[in-house]
Parts: sequence; C-alpha cells; structure tokens
Amino acid sequence: MADWASTSGGTPEILICKDAAALAREAAGVVVSEAQRCIGQRGRFTFALSGGSTPRVIYGMLAQQPLKSQVDWSRVHFFWGDERSVSVDHADSNYRMAREVLLDDIGAPPEHIHRMEAEREDRDAAAAEYQATIEKVFGVHPPQLPRFDLIWLGMGDDGHTVSLFPGTSALHETTRWVVPNFVPKFNTFRMTFTAPLINNAALVIFLVVGEGKATVLQAVLRGPREPERLPSQLIRPTAGRLVWMSDQSAARML
Ligand code: 6PG
Repeated sequence: MADWASTSGGTPEILICKDAAALAREAAGVVVSEAQRCIGQRGRFTFALSGGSTPRVIYGMLAQQPLKSQVDWSRVHFFWGDERSVSVDHADSNYRMAREVLLDDIGAPPEHIHRMEAEREDRDAAAAEYQATIEKVFGVHPPQLPRFDLIWLGMGDDGHTVSLFPGTSALHETTRWVVPNFVPKFNTFRMTFTAPLINNAALVIFLVVGEGKATVLQAVLRGPREPERLPSQLIRPTAGRLVWMSDQSAARML
C-alpha cells in the first residue's frame, strides 16, 4: 500500500491495481489508514463520499470486518460531493446508497452524517445551507476554504466528476463551495461541490474502474488541458495530494 501520509508535490499520483477487486481492497485500506491517521492527530476525519456505482463495493468492505472495527466511526464526519435531485429513498440517491451499504452498519452518529438536500425546490437555499453546515463543522468561513481530510471522486466516461459536467455553469464557480447545477444531459438539476472547495482538500482520490473509462482517463491525464470538455481536469489540489486509482482495464491507454 502506498505511503498515504506522505505529501506529494502536486503532481497527480497514479496507482494501478490488477483488477476491480484489488482496487477495492486498496481503496478501502486507504480510507482506514487515513481515518486512523487523522483521528489520531486531530480527533476526527472529514470524508466526502462519491456517488455512482464504483464506490459501492468499497463502502461495503468498510462496513464489514475486519475493516469495520479498525476505525472509530464515531469520529468521522460524512459529507457528499454531489447529489441527485431525488428523495432520500430514491434508487438514484447517493445518500441512500451510502446509507444502505455503509452508514447503517457502522453506527455513525446521525449528527455526523451531513446529507445534501438536493431534492429541495429552493435549490440555492439548499446549497447555501449545505455550505453553512460545512462552515460550522470546519469552523471556517469564506474567503477561507475548509480542508477536507479526504474527498472521494468518481469520473464519468464524459470526464465529469461529482456533478461538474462538461459545459455546465458550475465549472466556472469561483467563490461558492456548493452549487445547484443544471445538467442538460439528464435534463435535471444536481447539487455539487465546486472545484475551489475540492482543490483545498488534503487528499483527493479519483476511483476509475473498467474498460469504458480508458479513453477518457487517457484524455484527462495525458491529453491537452480542456476542463470545459473534461471537468475532471479542474481538480488540482492547491496544497494537497491527488491520487488516481484505477484498475488495469481503465488504465490500459496510459
Ligand atoms: C454521481 C457521481 C458521479 C460519479 C461518476 C462515475 O453522482 O453520479 O458523483 O460523479 O462518480 O458518474 O460514476 P460510476 O462510478 O458509476 O462510473
């Protein structure tokens, strides 16, 4: 396992695992080691979860032994990097997925589970309130930025991450930490962390798995910088670490 506590000079680190199962084991191990380190140093671990399907297996591993008992989950604050504008019990809810596969099994204190209320009609108010929650938990207010211990990201085959989709307005947000974002591709609103917030994290990990991501991963990591088309390129932590974790299928064009 890489030495996760070491700092990097801002160049993205790439960790390629044999297959999805090996990646899941490695990724789950990172969460445990980072949580232990942060809780040991500062008494808590602030963790922003990703949605989508890739992290599901990893959340499940964290909720079962032997990993489950290796973290004091009562010290972990859970956030979401984005959310769909659906109710908490909707099949598309990122919150529901994490609740079912991880949170209900580890007994995280409800006051440490910070759900994004992306389904609310007044989206701007909901986004502002989510930012206010982050401000309260971190004790940090604009223009300062909070520093998440770990922000977990996936990437779509169109190069989006969280709900920063190609050609959408949220890509250009420079001050707000959380915004509603209309996604024409799905003809719906989502709520999402913005690049400035993500880029202030101590550790940002992309998890990219499968043959279907090979082309976009190569474009994002090796191609020209064009974040309007490939929003994942916006993610460049200012003073933190950026780690791309993928399986050999997704990394085959690197
Ligand atoms: C979401 C996610 C999104 C996801 C990518 C990759 O709400 O959908 O936050 O950014 O990480 O779409 O999803 P998969 O892991 O399912 O490929």
